[in-house]
Amino acid sequence: MAKLTINDNHELNRIEPEIYGHFSEHLGRCIYEGLYVGENSDIPNVNGMRSDVVEALKEMQIPMLRWPGGCFADEYHWKDGIGEKSKRKKMINTHWGGVIEDNSFGTHEYFELCRQLGCKTYVNGNVGSGTVAEMSEWVEYMTFKGVSPMADLRKENGHEEAWTVDFFGVGNENWGCGGHMTPEYYGNEYRRYQTYVRNYDPDHPIKKVCGGPNVDDYHWTEGVLKTCFDHLPEDYHGSMDYLSLHYYTHPEGWIEKGSATEFDEETWYKTLKKTLWMETLIKNHSAIIDQYDPDKKIGLSVDEWGTWFTVEPGTNPGFLYQQNTLRDALVAGINLNIFNKHSDRVRMACIAQMVNVLQSVILTEGPKMVKTPTYHVFHMYRHHQGAMLLDSALTGVNETGIGEWQVPEITESVSRKDGIITITLNNLSTKDSKELDVILTGKDSYELVEANIVTSDDIHTYNTFEEPEKLTEEKLSGVSVNKNTLKVTLPAASVVEIRIK
Ligand code: AHR
Repeated sequence: MAKLTINDNHELNRIEPEIYGHFSEHLGRCIYEGLYVGENSDIPNVNGMRSDVVEALKEMQIPMLRWPGGCFADEYHWKDGIGEKSKRKKMINTHWGGVIEDNSFGTHEYFELCRQLGCKTYVNGNVGSGTVAEMSEWVEYMTFKGVSPMADLRKENGHEEAWTVDFFGVGNENWGCGGHMTPEYYGNEYRRYQTYVRNYDPDHPIKKVCGGPNVDDYHWTEGVLKTCFDHLPEDYHGSMDYLSLHYYTHPEGWIEKGSATEFDEETWYKTLKKTLWMETLIKNHSAIIDQYDPDKKIGLSVDEWGTWFTVEPGTNPGFLYQQNTLRDALVAGINLNIFNKHSDRVRMACIAQMVNVLQSVILTEGPKMVKTPTYHVFHMYRHHQGAMLLDSALTGVNETGIGEWQVPEITESVSRKDGIITITLNNLSTKDSKELDVILTGKDSYELVEANIVTSDDIHTYNTFEEPEKLTEEKLSGVSVNKNTLKVTLPAASVVEIRIK
C-alpha cells in the first residue's frame, strides 16, 4: 500500500514564491501579440497590455517575471527601447527568426506590465555584447530616485518615479549564446559587471543573479564560483544572491526534439524520466555551491526550465511555438514538487516562456486565448507560494514505465500556510490509478478544505482555440479524511492538489 507520511510538527523552510516565476523573452509571439498588442489594438488592452492575458496571469498568482531574455538579453541594448516609439531604433532579432524588432516594448512597457500583474521584476542585463557602462546606466535609469543624467532621462520619457528592480541577471548563458566564455573568464566578468549594478535604493537592494551552468556542466559551476570566491572579503556573499541553472526537458535529441502532441507511451515515460533528472542536477550543483557557501546564502535560480519540443508544424521554426498536453502538466507538477523539496537552496525558478513559446501557460491566436494544462498546474500549486515546506516521505511506491524508462509511480510535496496544509501529488503512470493513504502526525484529526485535479482519459489531451476547456482544473471527489488519515485514489496520469486543516 502506498503511504505518504507528513510530519507536520516539522516545518523545514519557506518556499519562496519566486519558485513559481515566469519568463518573457523577445522571441516569436511571446511579447508581441502574446502580452503586448499596443494601445490602438482591437484586442482589449490597458496601456497596450492585453487584458485577457493579464487577468489570467493574475488569477494564477504570478509572483515574478524575467525579461528580456534569454539569448535575446545579451544582444539587447536598452536605450533602443526608450523614448518616442516611432523613433526607436530597430534591430534584427538574430537568435529568433531573424525578424525585425521595433523595440516598441522596452523598459517602460516591462514595468507597466509588472505593475498590472502585481509581480516582482527580474531584469536580465547584457554582458555578451554590452558594456559595464551600459549596464550601470540602465540600473541608474530604472532605480535612481534623485537628480542624475539617467534619472532625468527617465523623467523626460514620462516616468517620474524610480522603479523597483527586485532581481538583476548579470548576463545569460555566457557559456553559450551569451558570449561563449570560459567559466573563469565569465567569473571575472561577473565580478566586474556586478560591481556597477549599484544599489541606489537601500530599502530595496537589488538581488544579483550570476550566470550559472547548462544542465550538468559541473565544471562551469566550480570554475565560476572558484573565480568569484577566491581571495575575496568575507562580505562577498552580498554581491551574488543567486546562481542560475538552465535545464530543459526534450525527450528525443537536441536537433529532433520530438512532437509536442504525438507521442507513444514509451516517450511519455522517457519525458518524465528526463524531467526527474532535475533533482539530480539540483543535488549535484548544490553540493558544489555548499563548498563555497555552506550557510546557503546564495540561492539556486532555475530560471529556464520546461519542455522543449519540435515546433508546431507549419509555424516559424525560429519562433519555438509548441502545444501543451497532459504530459506537460505532469512535467510541471514533477518539477515544481522537486523545487519545493529543495527549496532550502532553490529559491527562484522561471518556466520558459510564459506565452506562445515553449512550455507556455497561455497560448493566443488573434483575440483568442487558451490556458494550457501547465497553467492549471501552476494555478493549483499557487498555495505553496510563501508556505513552509513540511517534512514528508512516501513508502510503498514502486516504479512504473517501459524498458529503461522507469519512474516512481508518485511524486509529492507538502507545505503549510495560514494553518492549511497543501499536498501536491503526481501519478506518473499512463494506465494505473493508485490508492494512497496519507498519515499526518501533528494532531488527532483534520478536515478537508478542497481537492482538485488535472487529468484526462487520454494522455495526449490539449486545449485548442476551438475547444479551450478540454483539460482544466476540476474538483476531485472521493477524498476521505478520518481523524489523522486521508485516503485518496490518484487517477492515472494526474496532477492532484489536496488541502486540509
Ligand atoms: O528559451 C529559449 C532559449 O533557451 C533562451 O533564449 C536561452 O537562454 C536558452 O538557450
